[in-house]
Amino acid sequence: MSAGLGASLPRQDGPAKVTGTARYAADHLAEGMLYGVLVGAPVPAGRLRAIDAHSARTVPGVTHVLTHAEMPKLAAPPVPPASSVRVPMQDDEIQYEGEPIAVVLAERLEAAEYAASVVQADVEAAPFTAHPRGHRAGAEVPRESGYLSGPADAEHGDVEHAFAGASVRHEATYVQPSRHHNPMEPSATLALWQDGVLTMVDATQWAYGVRIVMCALFGLASDQVRVRSPHTGGAFGCKGLVWPHQIIAAAAARITGRPARIVLSRAQMYSTVAYQPQMVQTVSLAASNDGRLAAIEHESINVTSASDDFVEYATLASQTTYAAPAIRVRQRVQRANVNLGTAMRAPVEGCGLWALGAAINELAAQLQIDPIDLRLANHADVHPFTGQPWSSKKLRECYEDGARAFGWRRRPNEPERDGPWLVGQGMADCAMGTFRFPSNAHVRLQADGRAVILSGTQDIGTGIATILTQIACGVLGLEPGLVSCEIGDTELPEAGPTFGSSSTMGVGAAVMAAAQDVLAKLDERSAQELGATPGAGALSAAMSSAGIEELVGVGSFSPEDSPYALHTFGAIFVEVGFDPELGIIRLRRAVGRYSVGRVINPRTALSQMLGGIAWGWGKATMEASRQDERLGRWLSKNLAGVALPVNADIPSDIDVAFIDEVDEHASPIGGKGLGELGATGVDAAVADAVFHAAGRRIRELPITPDKLV
Ligand code: MOS
Repeated sequence: MSAGLGASLPRQDGPAKVTGTARYAADHLAEGMLYGVLVGAPVPAGRLRAIDAHSARTVPGVTHVLTHAEMPKLAAPPVPPASSVRVPMQDDEIQYEGEPIAVVLAERLEAAEYAASVVQADVEAAPFTAHPRGHRAGAEVPRESGYLSGPADAEHGDVEHAFAGASVRHEATYVQPSRHHNPMEPSATLALWQDGVLTMVDATQWAYGVRIVMCALFGLASDQVRVRSPHTGGAFGCKGLVWPHQIIAAAAARITGRPARIVLSRAQMYSTVAYQPQMVQTVSLAASNDGRLAAIEHESINVTSASDDFVEYATLASQTTYAAPAIRVRQRVQRANVNLGTAMRAPVEGCGLWALGAAINELAAQLQIDPIDLRLANHADVHPFTGQPWSSKKLRECYEDGARAFGWRRRPNEPERDGPWLVGQGMADCAMGTFRFPSNAHVRLQADGRAVILSGTQDIGTGIATILTQIACGVLGLEPGLVSCEIGDTELPEAGPTFGSSSTMGVGAAVMAAAQDVLAKLDERSAQELGATPGAGALSAAMSSAGIEELVGVGSFSPEDSPYALHTFGAIFVEVGFDPELGIIRLRRAVGRYSVGRVINPRTALSQMLGGIAWGWGKATMEASRQDERLGRWLSKNLAGVALPVNADIPSDIDVAFIDEVDEHASPIGGKGLGELGATGVDAAVADAVFHAAGRRIRELPITPDKLV
């Protein structure tokens, strides 16, 4: 029996991970390696007058303290996927607290850490712009810098006319705070130069992306940079682009002539890499009395840094979700002296659906219409903005099946009481765009009928190596134990990034094509009839009769502009308990139903959705990174002061299922992306459940007890 599409194959790398034999970037050593520790700017804005590294240099074991004066002038400007147009440690300017101003290199980590703590920066502090707190002041149009992925404004239909003629309107502002990623493995990189070739072992979501940036900055050809990422210990977006520590490690290794490794501390994960910036979103809805939307207007303002204009395109949710004839969206940024934001699970619609979903639920209450009926009345049969047909969409089935499983239609008007708890229920839409990136893979068949998959993708913990294995097994008819998978290296065929819930579609399709290719090649060269899914015995017999030791199949996935709109959909239902005396809210149960095309591995898919719902609960009720407005620094820079869902916060009663569907427009494997979908919509559903239980509309996340008592 082989494991093909749809099999619940367990994690192939599970044993290596739980026994500690899996090696992450920070587990790698190199001969003569120096330990690098970054020194961060003590103020959020100003100029470095001088850096006194005298005492740091006298610490035994310290070999170098590098500042902007010693750093090579890099072949700027950087190119995406560098996170920022600002190259680190190139001048004496300080733009945010924690910005790297020096790197200490030592023979031992302890020496480097101690020495970094005694580096003295003589700083001329300047007035700074603090991280704004939930207001719209200072919003500006994002500057075009080559890093924007779309226009800031978009409009479709006659919005003014629709608002003027509407019998019902709803307008409100919804806030979500800045939040940090905090994967279990902090960002880490080991850089080493040999004969003009830069090799990096890096905790990244995109090994090939790191190579692009290093080539640009150091003026190298692509065969002069190799990036390895054998295991990446969790990532929610903060390892997607290239951040200062990677550039500094490569530069330090070049200057010192020795390999250099930089592992960020948990505190540095707050200010040296990115976070999801605060968003202030205003949604205006115009509707008829029977709930048909006439117009949606949506503005989102997100925090950005002094150097860059990162735009989180939250308003895309309003272009894709409901069939409003008139839609107008605006993206704005608020500049502050903070480190730069980036995408975080779940970006784009994941952010916008908080505001839009909450607004729709409030409109439903105003109209006294069931939130599902309001959504059905505005179901988008085609893409509302472009008019394109969907590649697949089973959202109606999600509503119907989810409502039945949850008992939604029996929702009482008044909250029920259960001991000290008032019980509230809420629902919302889930949605994500379907991101597709070109990817390549090889499948190498051996004389004994075993196969090896080769692709330069990376596994951030979601199980892609397992999924690739089962896809190859399905084509070749092999047991999973006969197929191994080599990933995480730019010496392997080029693969896209591991973000945007894209890998199973893209790399999976490339592996399927490579497995089919090797089978076709063998069929051509051997006299034996192979047929479909031949299995190890037939494969090795064919190989030996044709006298072939090894045969390589080549496959690729090259997404082209589709005539279809590609999206995933879902519906999330939650039940919360609210204690009116203490203001505490608890998640009691949840039901999620999703339309994601074919589910390749139900086990890893379930795990993604459960994780996404837990993540959504954290966003809705716990997470926020606050800045001290006087010091311009993050208040909490460790996990001790950060509220995140733990096991005790998440009930076992979470019912997740996928609607039966195959979408071959999205990918030859029939699947769409699902990794981030489960994290969308939970916030809006929770806010509505809290309203049901507590009678209060909370429009600023997280919904904490202080907002409810
Ligand atoms: Mo995720 S924000 O696509 O790493």
